[in-house]
Amino acid sequence: MLELQLSTSLLLCLVPLVFLFLKSVLTNVFSPKSNDIRIPKSYPLIGSYVSMYANSNRVVQWLSDFVKTSPNLTVILRRPLGRHRVITANPAVVQHILKTRFPIYQKGDLFRTTLSDFLGDGIFNVDGDNWKFQRQVSSHEFNTKSLRHFVQHVVDTELNDRLLPILSSAAANGTVVDFQDLLQRFAFDNICKIAFGHDPAYLAPSLPETKFAIAFEDAVQISTMRLRSFVPLIWKIKRLLNIGSEKRLKVAVGEIRKFARKIINEKKQELGQKSSLDSVDLLSRFLSSGHSDEDFVSDIVISFILAGKDTTSAALTWFFWLVSNNPEIESEILKEINEKSEAPVYDEVKDMVYTHAALCDSMRLYPPVPIDSKTAIDDDVLPDGTIVKKGMAVTYHPYAMGRVEKLWGADWEEFRPERWLERDKDAEKLKFVARDIYTYPVFQAGPRICLGKEMAFLQMKRVVAGVLRRFRVVPAVGDGVEPVFVAYFTSKMKGGFPVKILERGDAY
Ligand code: HEM
Repeated sequence: MLELQLSTSLLLCLVPLVFLFLKSVLTNVFSPKSNDIRIPKSYPLIGSYVSMYANSNRVVQWLSDFVKTSPNLTVILRRPLGRHRVITANPAVVQHILKTRFPIYQKGDLFRTTLSDFLGDGIFNVDGDNWKFQRQVSSHEFNTKSLRHFVQHVVDTELNDRLLPILSSAAANGTVVDFQDLLQRFAFDNICKIAFGHDPAYLAPSLPETKFAIAFEDAVQISTMRLRSFVPLIWKIKRLLNIGSEKRLKVAVGEIRKFARKIINEKKQELGQKSSLDSVDLLSRFLSSGHSDEDFVSDIVISFILAGKDTTSAALTWFFWLVSNNPEIESEILKEINEKSEAPVYDEVKDMVYTHAALCDSMRLYPPVPIDSKTAIDDDVLPDGTIVKKGMAVTYHPYAMGRVEKLWGADWEEFRPERWLERDKDAEKLKFVARDIYTYPVFQAGPRICLGKEMAFLQMKRVVAGVLRRFRVVPAVGDGVEPVFVAYFTSKMKGGFPVKILERGDAY
C-alpha cells in the first residue's frame, strides 16, 4: 500500500516536470530565437522540410529572403535527416570557398552522383586532373582569335540571317512572339557551332521542334529536380524501377547521346580525311588531342552545350524586359549603338561600355545562374565563423547578393547601369568600373570562373546592338504584370516573354 502511495506521488511530481521539459523543447524547436541563424524554422528529423516543400516553386526567392536579412549574410538550411547546407551571400565567404580554400570546396560526390547520368565526366561535373585537362584544352576556344571569329561569323550570321528576319516579319504582321524562345534558339545554334561545328538551325522561321533540344531541356529539368529532391532515395528508387521522371530522363539522355555520337563519328571521318583542321570547334580540339573515346568526348560537349544554351538567353530576356521599362536607359544604349558602324566589328562591340554596364546591372538583379553549390571535402570554418563539416554543401547565392542593400546601396532595387560607370576625365569617355568579383559572382570566380564570360558578353552586346538599332521590343503583358523568375540550372521567365516588335522607323 505504501509502495503504491509512493509511486503515485512520484508520478504526480513527475507530470509537471515532464510537461515543463516538453514545453521547453517544443518552444525551442518551433520558435527559433530571432538571433538564431539556423532559419528557416526547423524540426527534428525533417529539418525545414515543411517550409521547403511549401516554397518548392520559388526556392531561389525563398532562400534569398532569409540569407539577405541574416546578420552575417549566411544561414544554415536544415534539410531532412541532418543533411545541412550552408547558404551564403557574404562576399568574404564566397572568396573563401571559390578561391582561398578552393582545393577543399569541390563539386563533390553529391553533385557528381546526382548529375552523372546527364553530364557524365564533363567539365561541370568533375574535379582534379580531369577538370584541369578539360579546362586547359578548351581555353583555346576562348582566345582573342577565336572570339573575333565567333563574333564576326557565328553571331553575325545567326543575327542577320535568322533573328532579324524573324523580328522583321513579326513587326510587319503585328504578331506577338515569345522573345525568350527566340533567344534560346539563337544561343542553342551558337553553342552547337562552337561545341560541334554543327548548325542545328533551331532558329528557323518555322521555329522547328528539334528532338535534341527538347531532350536537352527535359534532361536539365529532371536533373534539377534530382538536385532539389528532399529525399534523394526516391529518385534513386524511381531510376531503379525505370518509372516516371527517371524514365523520361533516361530517354532524354539516350537521345542527347545518340545525337552527340552521330556528330562525333562525322567529325572523326572529317578529321581522318584531312591533314589539318578546317573548323576550330571544341569537338575537333578534343579529338585532335588524342581523345577518341566517344563517351568521354560526348560528356565534354554536353557540358559546353549546357553552359552556352540558356545562360546568355536568360540574361538577354531579362535585359530586354528591364530596358523596355526604362526608356532613358534605352536611349543611352541607342546613342552608343548609333556611334558604332551598322554591323559593329569585334573591337567596336568590346567598346560598348554603356551596354556592358546595363547587362551587368540586369544580371545583378536576374543572374542566369542564380545559385551554385560546392561540397566541403574536409572540415572547415568560414570567415564569418560558420562551422562546416566534411560533406556539407556550401551554396553561394548571386540572386540574393544582387539584392543586399549593404553591398549595392539603398537603390539596389533600381536598374541603374551608371553604378558601373565612371567618366574618364582625360578622354571624356565613359569608363566601365568592374565590381569586386566576390560581391558579384554571376560568372563564378577563382580558378573555375566561367570560361565563356568574354564570349557571352560579345554575343549579348552584338545581339543588343543588332536588335535595338532596328526595333523596339515591347512586352505584350498586361499593365503592372511582373514576369516571374524561375530557376533550373539557369533562370527563365516563367511562361516565356511575349513581345510585340516595332520597327524604329515606324515607332518614331
Ligand atoms: C551570361 C552568360 C553566362 C553566365 C552568367 C555564366 C555563368 C557561369 C557560372 C556561374 C559558372 C560556374 C558553374 C559551376 O561550376 O557550377 C560557369 C562555368 C562555365 N561556363 Fe559560363 N556562363 C555564361 C555563359 C557561358 C558561355 C556562353 C560559355 C561557353 C560557350 C560558358 C562556358 C562555361 C564553362 C566551360 C564553365 C565551366 C568552367 C569550369 O568549371 O572550369 N559560359 N559559367
